[in-house]
Amino acid sequence: MPEYSPTILDHFQHPRNLGDLEGADAVAEVENPACGDRTRLAVRITDGRIVAARFRTEGCPAAIAASSITTELITGRTLEEAALLRDADVADALGGLPRNKLHCSVLAEDVIRAVIQEYRARGDGA
Ligand code: FES
Repeated sequence: MPEYSPTILDHFQHPRNLGDLEGADAVAEVENPACGDRTRLAVRITDGRIVAARFRTEGCPAAIAASSITTELITGRTLEEAALLRDADVADALGGLPRNKLHCSVLAEDVIRAVIQEYRARGDGA
């Protein structure tokens, strides 16, 4: 097992906002081509702001921790603010990632972009 920060271990062992989101305004799923791990993010949006987020991730501990902390990072943000989040922000929030696990935070950035794109594509999130 790679050396994980206490924050990663905490979010892996006690994931926040795990599950489905009833009445979600957008749901997106992405796969990391490097390893095949997958994550799904569902969000509820009110007045252009993410008011709730839930995730399901099939992947490594870092991917699960990244998904978990992502739900915390995006909740309360406007779509514009959430769209600015980068994988490095997720990695920083986790207290850093081992070099060979950096791609796990890319999965989080990808799913944030995907869910915002999905919401906007519906035409009610312009
Ligand atoms: Fe695939 Fe972490 S090893 S996302």
